[in-house]
Amino acid sequence: METRTNDMPTVLVTGAAGGIGKASCDVFFEAGYRVIGVDRRPIEDLPYEVLHFDIGGLGNGDAACESFYQQVEELAQGRLNALVNNAAIQIVKPIEAITRYDWSETLDTNLLAPFWLIQRFLPLLRAAGGCVVNIASVHAMVTKAEFTVYATSKGALVALTRAMSIELAPHVRVNAVIPAATDTPMLRDGFGDNLEGLEVLGDYHPLKRIARPEEVAQIVLFLAGPQASFMTGAAVSVDGGIGACLHDPVVAR
Ligand SMILES: NC(=O)c1ccc[n+]([C@@H]2O[C@H](COP(=O)([O-])OP(=O)(O)OC[C@H]3O[C@@H](n4cnc5c(N)ncnc54)[C@H](O)[C@@H]3O)[C@@H](O)[C@H]2O)c1
Repeated sequence: METRTNDMPTVLVTGAAGGIGKASCDVFFEAGYRVIGVDRRPIEDLPYEVLHFDIGGLGNGDAACESFYQQVEELAQGRLNALVNNAAIQIVKPIEAITRYDWSETLDTNLLAPFWLIQRFLPLLRAAGGCVVNIASVHAMVTKAEFTVYATSKGALVALTRAMSIELAPHVRVNAVIPAATDTPMLRDGFGDNLEGLEVLGDYHPLKRIARPEEVAQIVLFLAGPQASFMTGAAVSVDGGIGACLHDPVVAR
């Protein structure tokens, strides 16, 4: 593992073993950041540290959470320039089948973990004049059947972004990214063997394909950096145009 010195900016990325999370860690690392990743799935042999931890339990405030927080604080060495809240789960179920556990697991991971991480690391973020990038989803704005729990969690994450951007200004910026379909394990799991469905989905985007994880990661890096110094409370779409598209089956003459 390469040693990065204390004058380098530091980023914490959740869900670092997943598609967009790993791509984000990679682009931050290439841009010269000291990268701290975290994921509940172990991942090894990377040039940066990825802690093995489940952030869904952060609200418990127990010894395991405290030990995780302290590990991050030690690695961050007093300042955190960027926190990327990327980890999420996606439960797809009809309304009749949704359980209390589905709600709590989803909200704990997709919405509350970002809040607890921001709350705990606020001193480090303030010390660095840092920023938060929350990875929301196109489902925060437009959605479809059986996405009630996921879409609600992402809509709330955009609301959390706005609310925290006001209270944390002017020292800490808080923005969200709104990706549409991106080629990651989460998306592919949803399609299983239905590769044709994946192609149809790509075609549905005005840019005629789904995103590559690094295309989302580059926008995350931009929002975290000095070029985005006047951006806070924003929700930036990276969606191949699908959010602008009216899916009207009537073809005009
Ligand atoms: N892939 C898409 O099409 C798409 C579209 C819009 C938004 N997003 C969002 O992008 C983000 C990344 O998604 P992805 O597609 O890369 O998914 P992914 O499943 O490839 O990666 C998510 C990672 O988060 C980790 N994770 C989940 N719960 C965790 C927990 N409690 N503690 C620690 N780690 C946990 C998983 O282990 C996984 O490695 C998510 O917020 C997702 O909602 C994805």
